Amino acid sequence: MPTEVIQVNSVEPDAAAIARAAAVLRQGGLVAFPTETVYGLGANALDANAVARIFAAKGRPPINPIIVHVTDAIQAQQLATAWPDSAQRLADRFWPGPLTLVLPRREIVPDIVTAGGPTVGLRVPAHSIARALLAAADVPIAAPSANPSTGVSATRAEHVLRGLGDRIDLLLDGGPTSGGLESTVLDLTTTPARLLRPGLITAAEIEAVIGPVARRGGQASAESETLRSPGLLARHYAPRTVLECVEEGSNRAVELCRLGLRVGWLAFGKTQTLQHEGLFVVLMERDPARYAADLYAQLHALDEAGVDRIVVTLPPDSEAWTAVRDRLRRASSP
Ligand code: TXA
Ligand code: MG
Repeated sequence: MPTEVIQVNSVEPDAAAIARAAAVLRQGGLVAFPTETVYGLGANALDANAVARIFAAKGRPPINPIIVHVTDAIQAQQLATAWPDSAQRLADRFWPGPLTLVLPRREIVPDIVTAGGPTVGLRVPAHSIARALLAAADVPIAAPSANPSTGVSATRAEHVLRGLGDRIDLLLDGGPTSGGLESTVLDLTTTPARLLRPGLITAAEIEAVIGPVARRGGQASAESETLRSPGLLARHYAPRTVLECVEEGSNRAVELCRLGLRVGWLAFGKTQTLQHEGLFVVLMERDPARYAADLYAQLHALDEAGVDRIVVTLPPDSEAWTAVRDRLRRASSP
């Protein structure tokens, strides 16, 4: 069956469209919808069969747990056996918003959602379409990013359709998402809390609310990190085209062109004037939030353009750029 697509106003979502999507969810179907980060591929989180369809559609390994989206902190507490003071403070400060809290799960959460593990990732999205859908469906919504496993997340409806084609029942097209990178994932089951995935909310912002947070260590801890949060698998968020990262000032993109490759180059200022046959320069903004909002759309576009190689000039190694650099590192991992 072809995917049904409904355009929805992202400020005031049309009630009939939301009711239709809620009905599909309640019947065990898959609905792709925008959040403030990326598009999610949603199913009723309490329906194990529906969630199994998410894994099938994405080709997602069964060891990778799925984030459960809820309407508010009250509904979050119905899915977790513990609600520490830190959770309340973070919810007060950042929800609705791009922060996922990992907490001990209740029995009601099906095994398939948590990949059989003892914890569940919970988040209250800020996007009005996501919020309207949660309210209308009246069930928590399990939703990973709406892309084939390990690929680039979808920040526009067309990315969802291209990646998941006919494997979903309904797509709510609310236009481009504003955030552009996935939520920050924070494990509250350890002391201190532990950053599992950097995202739009930085570790420093979290520390300002709950005190010290364990950041990710070096290579030594890589294996245990992967087990804790399989989204940390080295290759992830990757375009089909081979992507390599270079430091600012590198001439790598032009060198590759000289070898006869068609190269897409995500660069900063100045390089703009560079011209070479087969070189497609995309000028990125030097502002982390704007860069994040634009990155995946540019990677999807270069994939579609069929270039031979994508070269990305790395942004500065500073806290504000942590999430962007994390995604670029994983996208370039062999
Ligand atoms: O912004 C987002 O988080 C988007 C939107 C749709 O909400 N969702 C998203 O989901 O990026 P996904 O499945 O692509 O990434 C979820 C990440 C994965 O790295 C997964 O391993 C981790 O969160 N995760 C989910 N539940 C977890 C749990 N119980 N314990 C540890 N990590 C968990
Ligand atoms: Mg994902």
